[in-house]
Amino acid sequence: MNLITPPLEQLFSLAGKVAIVTGGAGHLGRPMAEALAELGAKVVVASRNVENCQRVAQDLGAGHLALRLDVSSADNIRKVVGQTIDQMGRIDILVNNAYSGSGPSIAEATEDDFAQSYRTGVIGYFIAAQECWRFMREHEGGSIINIASMYGMVASYPDAYEGTAGGSPPNYHAVKGAVIHLTRHLAVYWAKDGVRVNALSPGPFPSPRVRQEIPEMVRRLKTKSPMGRMGEPGEIKGALALLASEAGSYITGHNLVVDGGWTAW
Ligand SMILES: NC(=O)c1ccc[n+]([C@@H]2O[C@H](COP(=O)([O-])OP(=O)(O)OC[C@H]3O[C@@H](n4cnc5c(N)ncnc54)[C@H](OP(=O)(O)O)[C@@H]3O)[C@@H](O)[C@H]2O)c1
Repeated sequence: MNLITPPLEQLFSLAGKVAIVTGGAGHLGRPMAEALAELGAKVVVASRNVENCQRVAQDLGAGHLALRLDVSSADNIRKVVGQTIDQMGRIDILVNNAYSGSGPSIAEATEDDFAQSYRTGVIGYFIAAQECWRFMREHEGGSIINIASMYGMVASYPDAYEGTAGGSPPNYHAVKGAVIHLTRHLAVYWAKDGVRVNALSPGPFPSPRVRQEIPEMVRRLKTKSPMGRMGEPGEIKGALALLASEAGSYITGHNLVVDGGWTAW
């Protein structure tokens, strides 16, 4: 083949790159860490339970790293980015994925529910992005990917959750909407620094635990999906690879939705 553009294999390659995946041992964090490693990046898997992260880093193969990280602490985030640069030599890709928040009903939600969600899901994302950008702008640029949600774009169907142990808490919707818009703002300001910032919004990807514990909710969610099914963890990998690599070099400020068509109807 006589190509006039770089081959896709080269565009998707992450050889020589270093990535941090926060919450990288979780349900979606792990497949995303796998995708980056498969494409050649060295991955730092980071969350509060460092043993889980160590298991994932080991499974990825030689040269990957596990670090303890609590994204509710700005100091701890800065420390982990510093450790990454010290130990791996650079940072090229940040996947802001870790999130933990309470799940109150709208009737019962308090300011503390919002404050805690905002701390991990917005402030934590911002501080990690800012700290990585400081390195990236002085070196070869980079790609920052903020994991948001379809629930940062659309309201949930109340009847999908009613009477089940599942929920769609107001603090979660508020935080994910904020992440999508923060992404646009950072993308515009950091474009001149060679730092791309995108959101990736998963649709419904219930974990095995949720599928087992709240089957009625999952059954109802399937009826709301054009594809009639839930997302499988591996189905997040392709979108992440596009945003992380040179294959997505002209994509910034975008919110890439991987939801089986949920937000299309
Ligand atoms: N699964 C879905 O259907 C879905 C849909 C839309 C969006 N999302 C988004 O996708 C992302 C991942 O979700 P998931 O389904 O994979 O959830 P998950 O399995 O619960 O994973 C979340 C990860 O975040 C880490 N984490 C939580 N709080 C943290 C903190 N304070 N500091 C550092 N790490 C923390 C957890 O590890 P430790 O406990 O070890 O800290 C865990 O590995 C989240 O942003 C979520 O909102 C998920």
